[in-house]
Amino acid sequence: MMFARLSACIAVAAGLAAAQSLDFEVYRTKVEPIFLKHREGHARCVVCHEASNSAFRLQQPVDKTSGWTEEQSRKNFQFVSNLVKPGDPAASKLLIHPLAPEAGGDKFHGGGHQFTSQDDPDWKTIAAWIRGGK
Ligand code: HEC
Repeated sequence: MMFARLSACIAVAAGLAAAQSLDFEVYRTKVEPIFLKHREGHARCVVCHEASNSAFRLQQPVDKTSGWTEEQSRKNFQFVSNLVKPGDPAASKLLIHPLAPEAGGDKFHGGGHQFTSQDDPDWKTIAAWIRGGK
């Protein structure tokens, strides 16, 4: 009984540790603005992913240009962290799902091939953030 509860605690702590190893400030200042950005020929991430039913769920920003409050960003961060493997961009769904298949991405993304290559500056910014988490 005691033991079962202890191992449940350890499992929860392990999940938290993954989120904690990712830098929230870098996320808020560099990564999150990418979700608001208009990319040529595509709708913005926020348009489809605010309040969406997929695992990539963003809060509804008060203002779609200036973005989220800090409290909202913390909620976004929790969802986004679940789509990331700290230290390993290639294993992170956040990067691989919206990437074109020719560039190593998934075959299908409901929002299209948002990134045509791994040299896309925004893709690289997100990758650098993920690499920084260990
Ligand atoms: C036109 C609408 C649309 C846009 C714009 C869009 N997406 Fe999506 N996205 C979807 C839909 C629909 C799904 C669920 C179906 C699927 O798996 O593709 C999805 C799924 C995802 C998933 C997988 C979530 C899960 O549940 O596993 C990720 C990660 C993702 N999108 C990232 C992005 C990123 C990053 C951007 C912006 C660069 C973006 N999307 C822009 C529609 C969109």
